[in-house]
Amino acid sequence: MEALALCQVFADARAIAAISCAAEMDGRAMDYQGILDEVMAAVWPLIGQGRVANYIPALAAVDPNRFGMALATVDGDLFGVGDWRVPFSIQSISKVFTLALTLARDGDDVWRRVGKEPSGNPFNSLVQLEYEQGIPRNPFINAGALVITDRLLQLTGDARGVLRDFLRAESGNPALDFDPVVAVSEAEHGHRNAALAHFMASYGNIENPVAEVLEHYFWQCSLAASCADLARACGFLARHGQRADGERLLTRSQAKQVNAIMLTCGTYDAAGEFAYRVGLPGKSGVGGGIIAVIPNRCGLCVWSPGLDARGNSVAGVEALDRFTTLTGLSVF
Ligand code: DON
Repeated sequence: MEALALCQVFADARAIAAISCAAEMDGRAMDYQGILDEVMAAVWPLIGQGRVANYIPALAAVDPNRFGMALATVDGDLFGVGDWRVPFSIQSISKVFTLALTLARDGDDVWRRVGKEPSGNPFNSLVQLEYEQGIPRNPFINAGALVITDRLLQLTGDARGVLRDFLRAESGNPALDFDPVVAVSEAEHGHRNAALAHFMASYGNIENPVAEVLEHYFWQCSLAASCADLARACGFLARHGQRADGERLLTRSQAKQVNAIMLTCGTYDAAGEFAYRVGLPGKSGVGGGIIAVIPNRCGLCVWSPGLDARGNSVAGVEALDRFTTLTGLSVF
């Protein structure tokens, strides 16, 4: 009886070892919480460095000393450190989701109106548009995002509402919402975006009234979400296009396309540096957030409001750099 019990213990131990060995091989046994704690300790001296975006007055009021980071696995586990549950202004991170929602409805048609090449210019630059006859370089610079919002508006009648509902569903947070103070502040100081939209309209590359497109764009940027919300919400890109509920949003190939554009264009004229340091598809916003995707494994989001000269979070980029260095997880 005792020998039998002992055999059972050995058999169980062997089974557990086999499972954890397999899990180790595909990485799922990683101590994500321990790694996030280590990352936060390492970037601590950088928190508060850089400048909070001040061209939108409502963003200038954010505390620069915030830092949060979250990781959501494709299986639904969630880990976080610091201010990972505090909502912040997602700003240009919204551009990833509007692109995905548009691709899901429009397929390749959208690529007739916007390119897929890095711009090498600041996110709000006007100069390239004239040379390229009103066709923006990619969907993640402001001009390209305005075209995408215009298309999503045409396809759905409510671009910002469709985006909010999608983020609520994927994050599992029904309270995720717009920040009207940020939206109004941005509209009041949105001369550059208005110039971009009118300029593209003059080339016939905006279908809806410019004022309507701008309104939807400002409101989409004003959405407030936490690192936990966004790490979960970008999970569909780690699951090759499959949503949290198992429904398919994008084909596997379209998910690859969005990830590729994030890698090459997601951090504007710093995309080369980001790929070099972090080695993951990522997208930043001037609210200080950055999302990143590890296909098959997890979505990540880091937030710290101090920005570098190119509009990316100083502590955020460093945290992702540390994360991929510590874990060896990157797409390369
Ligand atoms: O268009 C704007 O100016 C902002 N709402 C979004 C800019 C942004 O986040 C660019 N990101 N780095």
